[in-house]
Amino acid sequence: MQSELRKKLLDVFSNSQDEYLSGQHLADLIGCSRTAVWKHMEELRKEGFELEAVRRKGYRITRTPERVTADEISLGLMTEFMGRHIHYEESVESTQKIAQRLVYEEAPEGTIIIAEEQLSGRGRMDRKWYSPKYTGIWLSMILRPNLPPPKAPQLTLITAVAVVQAIEEMTNLTPQIKWPNDILLNGKKVTGILTELQADADRIKSIIIGIGINVNQQVEDYPEELQPIATSLSIECNQQLKRAELVQILLLKFEKLYTLYLEKGFYPLKLLWESYAISIGRNITARTVTGSLYGKAMGITDDGVLLIEDSAGKVHQVYSADIEL
Ligand code: BTN
Repeated sequence: MQSELRKKLLDVFSNSQDEYLSGQHLADLIGCSRTAVWKHMEELRKEGFELEAVRRKGYRITRTPERVTADEISLGLMTEFMGRHIHYEESVESTQKIAQRLVYEEAPEGTIIIAEEQLSGRGRMDRKWYSPKYTGIWLSMILRPNLPPPKAPQLTLITAVAVVQAIEEMTNLTPQIKWPNDILLNGKKVTGILTELQADADRIKSIIIGIGINVNQQVEDYPEELQPIATSLSIECNQQLKRAELVQILLLKFEKLYTLYLEKGFYPLKLLWESYAISIGRNITARTVTGSLYGKAMGITDDGVLLIEDSAGKVHQVYSADIEL
């Protein structure tokens, strides 16, 4: 875990707008010795930060490395509680697994777990999630809302809206949401969301929302079977992106939407979700475990259930399915 001092140090730089900050000034602000400041600056350098140290002026951060370390994310993070506790790993089985342990250890709301690579990334319906090193965002968020368990799917839908808005802001591309929570660009999947719930009969104890965003992969980086169905932001917008910046934007978007949801309920969020949804109003096939259903997607209920009207005019509620457009 990132130390409190390191967090404070990066906060000070975040607010300094390129000014030089002297070792003594930093030491006073964060409450440690000048030697401790120097040690932290050396560690930042090892992580790939580019620093300028000028005599009588102090330190300045001139470039941050392309990593998604806690330091990278903290520098410039504008949220109040999302991402204020960051657990970073170079390589993990799955960030969801670590999140489960941290939930048990009472990690506070807004804690995120992020890794450069996942060796056994998990998707919905026990599928694998391809998570190669240094190219994507493999992130789990811990939330502790005071809500009954049936409301949990709403949080997945809110997350999808936050991801879409973050991608829009970062790239100017407008992704679409395919129910329940696939995010597509040009018909190919760029993001998946996996929600896991810990609950009593009447109350959510915690919820872990896993987000996988394909950011800097190129077509040839994908295994052949994924190439027709998966894409990355870099493929679609023709440039390499700073993943840590995208995480910062995503956490801020999510925090705003989540706060709105807790204050005003699901309705405004549902409208937003529907405005990005690809399938609403179209004829689709829903493949469920019990069979296939063809009809017009009418919208979602407040519980995030998909409504499909068949050719006889009967409206079906679909709780879990793969959708074909
Ligand atoms: C899906 O579309 O099937 C959901 C994919 C979710 C992938 C993310 S990556 C971070 C987190 N850790 C995992 O093992 N899975 C989720």
